Amino acid sequence: MSTNQHGYQDFTLGGFTFRRDEYFAHIAWTTGAGKPMSHTMDAGSFLRALMRDVAWGFFYGGVNFDQVIGTTNRYQTVDLYAGTYNATMKEAGIDRLENFPTEQIKLVFEQMLDDWTNEGFDPFAAPQETGSAYGRRHGNNTAKITRARELATRCVGMKDDLPLRSDARGAPVNRAFADVAQEQPELHPEPGFENEVHAFNLFGFLSRSQVTWNPSFTSVVKYSFMCPTTEEHILPIIHANDRVEWFFQMTDEIHWDCGDKTTGKPLARVIMKAGDMAAMPAYCRHQGYSPKRSMLLVWENGSPNLVYEIEKGESPEVPVKF
Ligand code: PHB
Ligand code: FE
Repeated sequence: MSTNQHGYQDFTLGGFTFRRDEYFAHIAWTTGAGKPMSHTMDAGSFLRALMRDVAWGFFYGGVNFDQVIGTTNRYQTVDLYAGTYNATMKEAGIDRLENFPTEQIKLVFEQMLDDWTNEGFDPFAAPQETGSAYGRRHGNNTAKITRARELATRCVGMKDDLPLRSDARGAPVNRAFADVAQEQPELHPEPGFENEVHAFNLFGFLSRSQVTWNPSFTSVVKYSFMCPTTEEHILPIIHANDRVEWFFQMTDEIHWDCGDKTTGKPLARVIMKAGDMAAMPAYCRHQGYSPKRSMLLVWENGSPNLVYEIEKGESPEVPVKF
């Protein structure tokens, strides 16, 4: 590792190198035929994507930073690729894919995120709620890039579980949700069931989210994970799912671009308004655009076997066949 003339460290992972300047992240690799290739991303977009990949432990399936580079979670190891899931680059033979132990790529990604994130830039914040990603290296924002993920084990607000959000916990109501009611439901469990019967105000909880495009777990029943999140501007990754995933648009609207997971070929535009539900098949990639901060419930099947069942044809890639 060395520091370049812009103050940033260069990073290497196998045959890939990563370099940042005042405006851009530059990724370079050599092809199977030994040809040198490179790719450029806006530094802010790159850091927003890197933040999600790091915070989500490489997520479910594929995390495309854009149409060229990204990672695929193999659940003990991670593939890092350039051009592999871009039909034009793949056909031209200029792609590269390398597999790394999760610990190795995680460490490099964490170091890169910390070194390349300047003071005042929060990759999890909406663009209107953060400073600039650009310029020579100045300061850091380690506190904001190492936020703990908010994961309930049973349900938000239960005993010994993820607490409700409040002003006192540093979670004020967002400017876009000033009209959201903050009252909590009344609970009247029978004696002995105080730790079994539960309810909380999910809209109030979400109105106090300090981040965007970062699902938390609010309730967990076996492998059924309720992962609501507040969205503003663009989902910083193009998610290539490895299982069916459901979306429930709880407020406002999000426009989704859906494409083929392997080639990137466009498949559908899905315009979701408040009250709409959709399911993303396991063969697609998707990226959402939220013109105004909105509330989205993502419903995940977290079964560790599901991806292998789908690969073997034992589980379907779609939620329903017509
Ligand atoms: C998704 O890839 O399905 C996804 C990820 C993060 C969000 C919303 C949706 O905040
Ligand atoms: Fe997804």
